[in-house]
Amino acid sequence: MEQEKTISLVAKKKKKKKKKKKKKKMEKQEKVHVLVLPIPVQGHINPMLQFAKRLVSKGLKITLVTAFINAESIQARAGEIEIENISDTTEVDRDVSNAEAFLKEFHELVSLKLPQVIEKLKYTGNPAGYLIYDSVAPQALDIAKQLGLPGAPFFTQSCAVNVLFYNMPQGLLRVPVEDKEPPMSMTGLPQLELFDLPSFVYDMVSYPSLLANLANQFSNFREADCIFFNTFESLEEEVVSWAASQWPVKNIGPTIPSMYLDKRLQDDKDYGLSLFKPEAETCRKWLDSKDDKSVVYVAFGSLAALGEDQMEAIARGLKRSNRHFLWVVRETELKKLPSNFMEGTVEKGLVVTWSHQLEVLAHKAVGCFVTHCSWNSTTEALSLGVPMVAIPQWSDQPTNAKFVMDVWRVGLRAKVDQRGLITSEEIELCIREVMEGERGLEIKRNSEKWKQLAKAAVDEGGSSDKNIEDFVADLVCS
Ligand code: UDX
Repeated sequence: MEQEKTISLVAKKKKKKKKKKKKKKMEKQEKVHVLVLPIPVQGHINPMLQFAKRLVSKGLKITLVTAFINAESIQARAGEIEIENISDTTEVDRDVSNAEAFLKEFHELVSLKLPQVIEKLKYTGNPAGYLIYDSVAPQALDIAKQLGLPGAPFFTQSCAVNVLFYNMPQGLLRVPVEDKEPPMSMTGLPQLELFDLPSFVYDMVSYPSLLANLANQFSNFREADCIFFNTFESLEEEVVSWAASQWPVKNIGPTIPSMYLDKRLQDDKDYGLSLFKPEAETCRKWLDSKDDKSVVYVAFGSLAALGEDQMEAIARGLKRSNRHFLWVVRETELKKLPSNFMEGTVEKGLVVTWSHQLEVLAHKAVGCFVTHCSWNSTTEALSLGVPMVAIPQWSDQPTNAKFVMDVWRVGLRAKVDQRGLITSEEIELCIREVMEGERGLEIKRNSEKWKQLAKAAVDEGGSSDKNIEDFVADLVCS
C-alpha cells in the first residue's frame, strides 16, 4: 500500500516536471521571432502565408515582410501575424504584367529595406531570430547572414521543377533545350520531352532574366540552415528522396488552409490575403443551384494572359461541351472575350473577375478544373480531389501538367495544334473524357486517393507535420 502511494507520488512529480518543462519550452518558443519574406504576387504570398500560420500554431512569432500590399486589410485576417510593408506604397492592384521589371524593383527594395527591418526589430524586445525568404530573392540570405541571422529559402514550386533548375548551373540541363533533343532523363524524374520542361528553358527569348533568377535560387542556398519545399513526400517520392540525399530539405506542403485539409486550425479557412476582389457570394449562389459534379471551373491564376484566339477557342470549347461552367476572367482580360459571349451564355455559364478558388474547388457542384497548372492551383485541385484539364501557359506549368497527366493521373493535358493553340474541339474532348469517359473514372479514383494523401501529410504525425515540428523544435533548442 505504502509502496503504491510512493509510486503514484513519483509519477505525479514526474508529470508536473514534464508539464513545467513543456511550459518553459512554450515560453521560449514564443520568443523565437521568424521573418517570412514572399515576393508580393498572389502565387507566392499564399503558400508562404499559409506556412507562416502553421508556424504560429506551433508557437512561433511571425512577421510577414512584404511590399505593395494593403497591410491593414491582411492584419485583420492573418490572425497573430504581424506585417512589415517595405514599400512606401500599398497599391494592391499593381501591374505585374512586366514580371522582370517587377522582380527587379522588389529585389532592390529587399536589399535596401530588409537590413533596416532586422535592425529596427533588434530594439523591440523581440528581435528577429530567423529569416524564411522566397527562394527567388536569394540576396535576402546574404543580408540575414551578415546580420547574424540564420535563414532558409522557401521554394514555392514543385520539387521536380526545383531540381530541374538546380541542374541548370550544374550543366545537366543545358539551355536552350532544342526541339530535336531526345527526352531528358534525370535522377528522380520521369522522362521529360521538350514541352514537359519549364518554358523558360526552351523559350529563351520571352523572359531571359526570369530564367536567370530561377537558376540564381541556388547561388548561395548551401549556406542556408534549412530548405523548405512546398510539396509533400508521397507526392513526389522519387525526386524528393533524391533531393533529401543532397540537401537539408523539409517538405512542408500542401500549403492549403487547414479547414480544407486536416481541420486542426479552426480559424484557418482562407489564405487571408487576396490581391483581387473575389465575387465569392455570386459564385456560391450560382454553384448551389447546380447538380453535383456537373460544373466545369476554368481559371488561369493571377498572372497568365492568354491570347485572344486562345480565349475564343476556350469559349467555343466550353459551349461545345454543353456543360455548366464558371470561368474566371480577370478584369484586364475581359476585353479578350468574344463579343456577345456573356449574353449568349447566361443559361450555361457564369464569368467572374476573381473567385474564392478554394471555396469553388471544394463545392460539390464542381466536377472538373480547366487550369494553367501553376503550382498552387495544381496542389489545391489535388488536395480537394478535383480532376483537371491542363492548359499550361509558361514557367513551371508544363512540368506540373506532365505530372498531372502521367504521374498522378488526375487529369488530361490538352494538346496544342501546329500554331501552339488548343482548339475548341480539343477542349470539348478533354472535358468530356474527364467528366464522362472511361478514363474519367480512373482519374476520379486517383483524385480521391491524392486528396486523402494530401490531408494525411499535414495531419498530426503526417510527413509535412513532422517536418514542421522538427524545424520548430530545432529552432527552439538552438
Ligand atoms: C504563379 C506562377 O504563374 C506559377 O507558375 C507558379 O507555380 C506560382 O506563381 P499564379 O499563376 O498566380 O502563380 O497561379 P497559382 O499558383 O494558382 O496562384 C494563384 C492563387 O490565387 C491560388 O492560390 C488560387 O487559389 C488563387 N486564385 C486564383 C483565387 O483565389 N481566385 C481565382 O479566381 C484564381
